[in-house]
Amino acid sequence: MAKFERHIFICMNQREAGHPRGCCDPTGQGELQRLFKTKLAQRGLKLVRANKSGCLDQCELGPTVAVYPDSIFYGGVRPEDVEEIIESHIVNGHPVERLRIPDEILNTTHQNKGDSSEFATRKIPTCANPPLAK
Ligand code: FES
Repeated sequence: MAKFERHIFICMNQREAGHPRGCCDPTGQGELQRLFKTKLAQRGLKLVRANKSGCLDQCELGPTVAVYPDSIFYGGVRPEDVEEIIESHIVNGHPVERLRIPDEILNTTHQNKGDSSEFATRKIPTCANPPLAK
């Protein structure tokens, strides 16, 4: 089989309700990852994997999705965004700028309390359920 062209890492990290760093999988059901997987399969994109991921350390901007080898991070991703990411980025090579976490704030999200950017002012998703048993 040919090598994979891209990996889409979908954070499925769980934290207790009300945790200040939020939760990328608020229902604990992995809906976002399953949706990416289903949509890729429907399009026959066999060389792109939708991988379950642990914390990608962009928690306050979650739910977080990272696309490699492009090294593009998306924040605040919702199920209704999946089709656009696949169509624009994966199929046509154009990252979805409205969801892209700017490189200059990557890995600093927990320090950006005074940041007035769109990402910094988003409501942090919180887990509705207790963390899944490991
Ligand atoms: S919990 Fe998803 S990036 Fe940290």
